[in-house]
Amino acid sequence: MEKVCFYVRDIPVHGDVILAPMDGYSDQPFRVLCREYGSAMSYTEFVAIEAVIYAAKKAMRMFDYAPMEKPQMSFQIFGADEDKFILAAQKLERLQPGIIDINMGCSVPNVSGRGAGAGMLRDPQKIGRIFNRLTHTLQVPVTGKIRLGWDSQMRNYLEVAKTLEDNGAALIAVHGRTKEMKYGGKADWDAIAEIKQAVKIPVIGNGDVKTAEDIDRMKAHTGCDGVMIARAAIGNPWIFRRRNRAQVTLHEMVELQKRHLQLMVDYYGDFGLILFRKHAVKYIYGLPGAAELRQKLMTCTSPGRFVELISEYEERSLHGEWDSHTVEPAQPADEGEFAEMTECRAA
Ligand SMILES: Cc1cc2nc3c(=O)[nH]c(=O)nc-3n(C[C@H](O)[C@H](O)[C@H](O)COP(=O)(O)O)c2cc1C
Repeated sequence: MEKVCFYVRDIPVHGDVILAPMDGYSDQPFRVLCREYGSAMSYTEFVAIEAVIYAAKKAMRMFDYAPMEKPQMSFQIFGADEDKFILAAQKLERLQPGIIDINMGCSVPNVSGRGAGAGMLRDPQKIGRIFNRLTHTLQVPVTGKIRLGWDSQMRNYLEVAKTLEDNGAALIAVHGRTKEMKYGGKADWDAIAEIKQAVKIPVIGNGDVKTAEDIDRMKAHTGCDGVMIARAAIGNPWIFRRRNRAQVTLHEMVELQKRHLQLMVDYYGDFGLILFRKHAVKYIYGLPGAAELRQKLMTCTSPGRFVELISEYEERSLHGEWDSHTVEPAQPADEGEFAEMTECRAA
């Protein structure tokens, strides 16, 4: 087991690279796969506090976790109402997460516009009240994931970070952009370094880590305790082993896809194949003949056939149909790609 890199209050975190919460992606199968590859913590997709209170079935399923994810298993929630935060978190605590995390980074208008997600950053006092109540009410550590502020006029990250620490937060994850930036521009690692200097609790840096080298660059630049990766982990869980796609062989890529698909089917049943498609597109990105393969994979309707198709592809490749057995470097997830998609599910 990797050495302990930091603690979330009393929970040891064995490693310094962490899969980010991602709506539509960080479900149990993908989290387990990434943990097997070295992600040191698990964050659920974010769930609205109202959905928790009313026990919406689909939402509550997002809190399923595998035993191997504990104790570094964090349930992420978002909302705007102070009392509902407490109610929802108390309810979730009964499901025995290791950690409860509050999302203060979601930029989509129907979340941030009503004071939830990144909308919370406009009212640091309210953040303080919510964390004060949560940390006094709950047994589990409470953490926060923030952006740098609302916009370039309101980059109040130091005030927010100190407020979190003063009110009992056990860790802060920082996406180095403002709400206004969505996913555009460049993540500001200097600001993450400032936060790290300003607080004593662990800080996880996030934003624009695309390669194994970026992990160490961010650590050196910011002094952060851990590095969180979202987009670059899709189709590339090897990043948690500090390996880039260019270093991964076709055989490894095919075997990993089979394992990921199996985890999806075990968890969701045959519908897991449909949900797996968005991952498959990323796994095969840049491969020679990817367009033809993608077309076949996206229209295939049985997991068994899917496995046959990727095995056939590997076989044809070994027989020299394609020039190289090495996966082409993955095109980094492009900024625009996710910018308009529902980053976070509306309440
Ligand atoms: C598809 C998608 C879904 C996301 N969903 C969430 C979420 O549920 N909760 C959250 O805190 N952040 C969410 N984020 C933001 C990421 O956790 C992360 O902060 C951001 O993508 C920057 O990291 P990156 O440069 O490694 O992608 C999401 C991002 C993407 C691309």
